[in-house]
Amino acid sequence: MNKATYTKEVPEDRVQLLEVIVRESLKGPLKVMIVGGTDSGKTTLLTFLANELLKDGIRVAVVDSDVGQKSILPPATVSLGIPDGPFSSLSEVKPLAHYFIGTTTPAEYAGETAVGVKRLVDIGMKHADVVLIDTTGFVTGIGAEMKRLKAELVKPDLTVLMGKEGELDGLAARLYPYTSVVSLSVSEQARIHSREERREIRRRKWEEYFKGSGIVEVDLRKLAPTGTAMFQGRPLSDDEVGIFSEVFGWVVFAGWKGEGYVVVKADRGDFRIPKRSSLHAVDFEKLSNLLVGFIGPSGLCLGVGILKWLRFGDMRAEVLTPLDEGILENAVELRFGRIRVLETGEELGLLRREEL
Ligand SMILES: Nc1ncnc2c1ncn2[C@@H]1O[C@H](COP(=O)(O)OP(=O)(O)OP(=O)(O)O)[C@@H](O)[C@H]1O
Ligand SMILES: [Mg+2]
Repeated sequence: MNKATYTKEVPEDRVQLLEVIVRESLKGPLKVMIVGGTDSGKTTLLTFLANELLKDGIRVAVVDSDVGQKSILPPATVSLGIPDGPFSSLSEVKPLAHYFIGTTTPAEYAGETAVGVKRLVDIGMKHADVVLIDTTGFVTGIGAEMKRLKAELVKPDLTVLMGKEGELDGLAARLYPYTSVVSLSVSEQARIHSREERREIRRRKWEEYFKGSGIVEVDLRKLAPTGTAMFQGRPLSDDEVGIFSEVFGWVVFAGWKGEGYVVVKADRGDFRIPKRSSLHAVDFEKLSNLLVGFIGPSGLCLGVGILKWLRFGDMRAEVLTPLDEGILENAVELRFGRIRVLETGEELGLLRREEL
C-alpha cells in the first residue's frame, strides 16, 4: 500500500543534500519543504532524509500535506508526525496533530492548506531540529500558486525541487523571494503510478482509517457546523419554506435567511436557479456520506468522520467515525468537507467549494 519506502540506494545529490541539512540544523531548527511533480520521489526522499537524520541523533518532525496521497492518516487533512526512531514507511509515523482540509484535491482549498501547513510546522519546530514538509505533486497552474502561498507563509529555510531538467524553473522563480531553492534530479528508479493505482492506494487508506468505526450522534447546537453556507442567519418560517416548495417545485428540508437565502432541497422538477441569484440551494443528496472533520478548540482537527444522516428538525447529525468519546468531547466544531466517501474507501465524488 505504501509507494515510498526507506532506501539507501539514492542518487548522490541526496547525500550532499543530507550533509547540508545536518550542517545547517546545528545552527538552529530548520524547515525543509519538498516539492515536485507526481511520482517524482518526494516521499522517498523525505523518508531517506528523516531516517538518516534520526540515525545521527537529530530530532525530526514531518508535516504531510499531500492531501490526495497522504502517508500519515487520515486522508484529506494535513498532518504532523514525530518519528521516535527509524521507520521504513512514513505511514508508520504516529500523528501528533492534524488540520482539516476536507478534500483530496486542494485547488479550491489553497488557503486552508497553507494555513494548516504553517500551524503544524510551528508545532513541529517546538519538537524537532529539522521539520520536513511533504507536498502534493500539483506543481503547475494553481498548484504553483499554492506552493508560493505555502512558501510565503512558512518561509522554509530550504525548498527542494525535484524535477527533470528545466521542468520546474517557473516554479523556482515564484519561490525565490521566500526560501532558498535547491534542485534535485528525479531518481531513475522513480516509478509512475496510474490513476487507478492511486485511487486504489487512497481506497485502502480510507478503509484503514475507518476500520472499527461506529456511529456517533452529534448535537449541532453544541458542535458548531462550519465550512458551509448552511446554518447561518435565521431559520426560514414555514410560510417561506412553502413558497420555495411551490415556486421551485422542491422538497425543502431546511433553510436560512442571512444576507441571502440558503435552502437545502431535493429536486422534483428541473428548475434552475439563475446565476448571481441571492439564493443558494444545497442538494440534500450531496450531504450523504460527506466527509466531516471534528475540530478542537484550537482549530486543529481531532479526526474525521462520514456524515450518515442530518436531522435539521432537532439539529442532530449521525456520523461514522473511529474517534472515541474521550476525544470527541473535546470537539467544538463539525466542519463540512467536499468529498463523499464510504467506509470501504470507495469515493463517491468531489464537490465544488460553492456547492455547500
Ligand atoms: N530513489 C529511489 N529508489 C527506488 N525507488 C524510488 C526512488 N525514488 C522513487 N522511487 C519509487 O518511485 C515511486 C514514486 O516515488 P514517491 O512515492 O516517493 O514519489 P512522490 O513524489 O512522493 O509521489 P506522489 O506525488 O504520489 O506523492 C515509488 O514507487 C517509489 O518507490
Ligand atoms: Mg508522496
